[in-house]
Amino acid sequence: MARSGKVTVVGAGFYGSTTAQRLAEYDIFDEVVLTDIVEGKPEGLALDISQSRPIEGFETKVTGQTTGPNGEGYEAIAGSGIVVITAGLPRKPGMSRMDLIGVNAKIVRSVTEQVVKHAPDAVLIVVSNPLDEMTALAAKVSQFPNNRVIGQAGMLDTARFSYFVAERLGVGVGAVTTLTLGSHGDTMVPVPSACRVDGKPLADLLSAEEIDGLVERVRNGGAEIVGLLKTGSAYYAPSAAAARMARAVALDTGEIRPVCTWVDGQYGISGVYLGVEAEIGGSGIRRVVERDLTGTELDGLRAAAEAVRAKQSDVASL
Ligand code: NAI
Ligand code: 2OP
Repeated sequence: MARSGKVTVVGAGFYGSTTAQRLAEYDIFDEVVLTDIVEGKPEGLALDISQSRPIEGFETKVTGQTTGPNGEGYEAIAGSGIVVITAGLPRKPGMSRMDLIGVNAKIVRSVTEQVVKHAPDAVLIVVSNPLDEMTALAAKVSQFPNNRVIGQAGMLDTARFSYFVAERLGVGVGAVTTLTLGSHGDTMVPVPSACRVDGKPLADLLSAEEIDGLVERVRNGGAEIVGLLKTGSAYYAPSAAAARMARAVALDTGEIRPVCTWVDGQYGISGVYLGVEAEIGGSGIRRVVERDLTGTELDGLRAAAEAVRAKQSDVASL
């Protein structure tokens, strides 16, 4: 396959480095750039990923670049068509994603300012937490059109839901379709009405109590892993989601995925970054896709919008 374009991943922690690896292994980009503020970390990881090339058989060049407090080194991201922002602290056991807002807002703001300077045409994919607020902040700071700033959460939460259903029913994940909308937090909205297993409604296969139990596990999916790891948060499934989003942009696939995007009238909700389904293409989000929801699901989505709206307006001042 012909390779083209450059994609940057900012933050060479667990999320960023696994995302860079996945993007490189797709073998569709000319170059993947990985940056971090820790001296030598992105260069070391880029070298390590590059040495896997002969084994995995991909030709994408992987470059690491340490960046300084005044934007030193950011020239390396020039020309990037996509920038994935993973810079920021992960949570520790007992912390909510919202506990990260102050420190991560400063990081995301400074990163976004540099991205605007050096890669002004990029599509931004934000993953730093709290996700909905950091996505809104990156949009405000960048002043990019809203379609060019996307947050990753819904694909991850949906994948967790599908995995839990598949595990519970003893079927392959390929047989399962699920969906979560809303925020990447307490107001996440799993959508049981959209869930199917081999084409059958989930409600025909599991009791309402069992579905509620799975939904609760999805809502706490990130915390469950933080509790087990104790020193950080999940990154294999999260990086799969962010990398797939970047791939959809790079290949202009038009696939419909649950993502955090600007909602402007859909579901009776306006003026907020929120998890909904959207069509992803070369310019970012082509359009938000609305589906029929039950009354309870719609109420949940509207409640999520109000919850994140308040925080998204505060975040600009952090
Ligand atoms: P990590 O601690 O392994 O890596 C974070 C990296 O960011 C570190 O290497 C750090 O040096 C770097 N960094 C800090 N300030 C920076 C700056 N100004 N510029 C460039 N790099 C900077 O954490 P991990 O696991 O990689 O998680 C990263 C973020 O992703 C966290 O905020 C975490 O909560 C979030 N996350 C989001 C998910 C989602 O679904 N949206 C899922 C999982 C994690
Ligand atoms: C997750 O859901 C912590 O947001 C991160 O795994």
